[in-house]
Amino acid sequence: MTSDSFQPIQGMSDLAVPEIHLWQRLEDTARDLLSRYAFREVRTPILERTDVFERSLGDTTDVVRKEMYSFEDRGGRNLTLRPEGTAGVIRYVAGQGQDAQEARLYYIGPMFRSERPQAGRRRQFHQLGVEAIGAPCPAADAEAIALQAHLLGAWGLDEFRMEVNTRGLPEDRARVADGLRDALKTKRAELCEDCHRRYEENPLRILDCKKTECRDVVAGLPPVTSFMSVEARDYLRDVLQILKRLEIPVTENPRLVRGLDYYVHTVWEVTHVGLGAQDALSGGGRYALTLGNKTVEGVGFAMGLERVIAALTGQGMDPKSLAERPDVWLVSQGASAFDENLVLMQTLRMRGVSCGMDLQGRSMKAQMRAANRADSRYVIIRGEHEMEEGTFQLKNMEDGVQEELDMPDLIQRLTPATDIAWPDSEEKK
Ligand code: HAM
Repeated sequence: MTSDSFQPIQGMSDLAVPEIHLWQRLEDTARDLLSRYAFREVRTPILERTDVFERSLGDTTDVVRKEMYSFEDRGGRNLTLRPEGTAGVIRYVAGQGQDAQEARLYYIGPMFRSERPQAGRRRQFHQLGVEAIGAPCPAADAEAIALQAHLLGAWGLDEFRMEVNTRGLPEDRARVADGLRDALKTKRAELCEDCHRRYEENPLRILDCKKTECRDVVAGLPPVTSFMSVEARDYLRDVLQILKRLEIPVTENPRLVRGLDYYVHTVWEVTHVGLGAQDALSGGGRYALTLGNKTVEGVGFAMGLERVIAALTGQGMDPKSLAERPDVWLVSQGASAFDENLVLMQTLRMRGVSCGMDLQGRSMKAQMRAANRADSRYVIIRGEHEMEEGTFQLKNMEDGVQEELDMPDLIQRLTPATDIAWPDSEEKK
């Protein structure tokens, strides 16, 4: 085997210590906060029928055109590894009864896009997504944006920027496309090759092009809202007004498009200054998706967790500082101390104390080295003397103080380290 055999596929990563501490912290904080906003978790399959995505994300989007991992399975079914979470959630909701039409759902998990890997762009990445189904009104959009800001703040992120725009109503699309074609007519020659195609197919996508020549052209265009209905403009105004009352700072960006086609009305994106070219931490908006004979409306967003983690580590957060230290490491000299320590370790664990010991009967020196590596708060040492006396040496690894204690004292001493109520120690008092 070459060393490459030990690497994951390009654009995909193993998530392990020390970063995993940060992943777990983010997930725990998010679950707490999401339940405060009355959202419940949903876990949809990672594989879906390809048409679930093709029909909902839009067949002129880059995700559907170039980035989906699609294949035919042994039964000849056309399947796709989910490139995002919304379509699967909507498929789930559409298959439920009337109750689910007002669902408030969130998901955390891997997504797959066959993009050219580069800093901030992975082929397997993770999203935390939120979907509030039903309630098609500006207050629901504002609530989702407020939750988004709250979550980023709770994770400790600062210097993020939230930009908001509208995609208008479905009826506005043709007017926007015509208006943009008209405004771009004399500038067509200056656009990149992809944007030439976009001009015909979906000129809105031109606003999203990252090429300098196209950006220059786009900078001179009128805002898309100028081609939209009064209803669409009023809806956005109402969302912005509610956000102001909730004191959520957002910036209106009339050129913000978003890369997926299912949006109607409000769209938004969150960027972070520390991220470089791929600076979008999160994106979201209101959508209406039709699957079979059902249309499901909702509003939501998804955050790219790799990017959230990159922004947090860029801000100086050290994942190692989040590692949980064991309370106790048990060290034994001699076979009978080893046997007794095995039993004590199990008892301690059953009572909520985190602890460990060397299981291979290695030397005292090796055991102390392992205790240091584990970075435990305390070490319990038992040798011949302690076995005879029925006592324990308890060493506090922070201040180095070592005391000889009997069982009730030992238990009492460990209690403050763990906040566990020990019935035996209560008796002793
Ligand atoms: P999206 O903008 O395609 O929206 O993705 C959301 C976030 O996922 C991005 O802002 C970014 O942080 C992260 N992301 C996307 N692609 C990659 C990649 N290749 N590598 C690393 N991170 C990436 C959606 O997916 C919509 N489903 C969001 C939504 C939910 N809208 C309504 N509800």
